[in-house]
Amino acid sequence: MMDTRALLVAAALLGVVVRASPTGGSNGSLPLVLWHGMGDSCCNPLSMGAIKKMVEEEIPGIYVLSLKIGKTVIEDTENGFFMDVNQQVSVVCEQLTQDPQFRGGYNAMGFSQGGQFLRAVAQRCPSPPMKNLISVGGQHQGVFGLPRCPGENSAICDFIRKKLTSGAYTDLVQKHLVQAQYWHDPLNEELYRTHSLFLADINQERAVNESYKKNLQALNKFVLVKFLQDTVVDPVDSEWFGFFKAGQAVETETLQESDLYREDRLGLAVMDKAGKLVFLTSDGDHLQFNRAWFTAKLLPYLR
Ligand SMILES: *[C@@H]1O[C@H](CO)[C@@H](O)[C@H](O)[C@H]1NC(C)=O
Ligand SMILES: *[C@@H]1O[C@H](CO)[C@@H](O)[C@H](O)[C@H]1NC(C)=O
Repeated sequence: MMDTRALLVAAALLGVVVRASPTGGSNGSLPLVLWHGMGDSCCNPLSMGAIKKMVEEEIPGIYVLSLKIGKTVIEDTENGFFMDVNQQVSVVCEQLTQDPQFRGGYNAMGFSQGGQFLRAVAQRCPSPPMKNLISVGGQHQGVFGLPRCPGENSAICDFIRKKLTSGAYTDLVQKHLVQAQYWHDPLNEELYRTHSLFLADINQERAVNESYKKNLQALNKFVLVKFLQDTVVDPVDSEWFGFFKAGQAVETETLQESDLYREDRLGLAVMDKAGKLVFLTSDGDHLQFNRAWFTAKLLPYLR
């Protein structure tokens, strides 16, 4: 049997950093689940791949799962445009339930639309328990516009834009277009409320599902990052749960001014008062941040 000193020497030789374990596991930190944004995939070395690597460097020994929806990276990217979101959320729930790595709980970080999708996981899938949820540029009140498409799929985006304007709330478009499922038309709130298959459901627009409230409130922290120069998300207020006031598309209201909060249909008011909601900004365009910002602002929620 190796004694502790020998272990430390071996670790030093291997360049491993040995840290005290804050939560009592072999290496302490909870596993992390990442969900990529539109036009991106689990494993792009310039985006999710780089984030995964960075987290692994900063928190040695951490288990990081970057979600891949589908069998291949190409399928994963396509599913970000065309696969029913409710189905994606249940696929992810199933995967997390079956992976023994997550049995003791996990933290989650979603990028752009991955932010609201992981919130749905928190609300619908209480086991294994999500501890901290970090939404990086997520659109929690949806979008009304698709001004710019991230990634290289501008042809796909043109197609989607056309579908959204011609009938975002028809069943056919709802079922087959991811962005339609968080399309929020403030000029047609009633249509949105009754026909949005995904966002109106998780935002308790039709009815209050008490288990959604209870599950979301079980989070330790819900961190919401807004990009101050965002040219992709319209309106950018959605990244902090704000949106256009109903009936027009100019004036916005904050989460705290909304009925969702005032009637506390989702438990966010209670969470806010308990200090569980953390509102952060990044001074850049959509998903633009550097390592220093990430390390200072987000890593503390992953340790
Ligand atoms: C500790 O590190 C190992 C190896 O990377 C990993 O499999 C395990 O899940 C980690 N434990 C925790 C509690 O994160
Ligand atoms: C509330 O949500 C859960 C999880 O999605 C679902 O199983 C349940 O049927 C919903 N309850 C109501 C009353 O709609």
